[in-house]
Amino acid sequence: MAKTEIKTIGVMTSGGDAPGMNAALRAVVRSCTYHGIRCKGIRLGYQGLIDNQIVEMGARSVSNIINRGGTILKSARSDEFRKEEGRKKAYENIKKNEIDALVVIGGDGSFTGAKAFQKEYDIPWVGVPGTIDNDIFGTDFTIGFDTALNTAIDAIDKIRDTATSHNRVFFIEVMGRDAGFIALNSGIASGAQDILIPERKDKIDDLFASLDRGRRSGKLSSIVVVAEGEELGGVYDLAKFTKIKYPDYDIRVTILGHIQRGGDPTCADRVLASRLGVAAVDALLEGKTNVMAGVRSNKIVYTPVEEAIQKHNEIDQDLLRITQILAR
Ligand code: F6P
Repeated sequence: MAKTEIKTIGVMTSGGDAPGMNAALRAVVRSCTYHGIRCKGIRLGYQGLIDNQIVEMGARSVSNIINRGGTILKSARSDEFRKEEGRKKAYENIKKNEIDALVVIGGDGSFTGAKAFQKEYDIPWVGVPGTIDNDIFGTDFTIGFDTALNTAIDAIDKIRDTATSHNRVFFIEVMGRDAGFIALNSGIASGAQDILIPERKDKIDDLFASLDRGRRSGKLSSIVVVAEGEELGGVYDLAKFTKIKYPDYDIRVTILGHIQRGGDPTCADRVLASRLGVAAVDALLEGKTNVMAGVRSNKIVYTPVEEAIQKHNEIDQDLLRITQILAR
């Protein structure tokens, strides 16, 4: 669809909320105002599209949200949209609301939905990567990742106080679904003795070797950061195996959970979200579709959505090396 044909853009936040989604929404809405086109907000992601929960959004409707976590549009994971019948209803509402193109702020599940929809109904759309997991190919960082990291290290720093005071070993589980980016970065930043991530195919003996090394060098307490997708087992199993191996260790487990998804976005996330929101509208007006806006080497890039979904960001080998060097 050419620039002049797009008169109304629909925008939604979909999948797990991430800090910075509001900033991205604000950028989409204000960008539409700037270009003199209408913007409509779709509440509750794809489910809201099916249920016709669609509201007009002007520049003032996104005042005072750049600093707020969560998403004012709300988000949902919709089973109905996975079915043809659900997508048909969604399309009818798109037509009813005169929406010409979509911006989908979410993760790879949300992009898969948009791709299927585009194939059936030929609605132009652009994705904006919003997830704390940082697991989307085509961008160095996803919206929410930086904030989640800062929340995680703040929590781990606090746990360290107890670990140190009581000479304890703590296993701390962080989010990330099947990716280890949150674990690796929060582990380095919080000075973890070991970091267990699914990408590395860890072995329990490597963990024990690391704990032994720490003990030999005089460490009395340790933090082990574990990605929720770690294949060796969950934090409780790891704590159990470690207790069997080292009966004298005083071991505790903490699962950080959803606190990592909440809170005010950091400066980095607000800037990233603002850039990507503007880039998404630019892309639609340039006639692009089925692409995701991302930032690579600090430049805006557009990646075909198939690639964004299918490929995976590699874990930085240098970061892995750093963890080995610093855990002494
Ligand atoms: O994708 C974001 C994320 O927070 C993952 O890190 C986690 O595995 C998942 O969502 C949790 O989903 P829910 O909030 O639906 O339990």
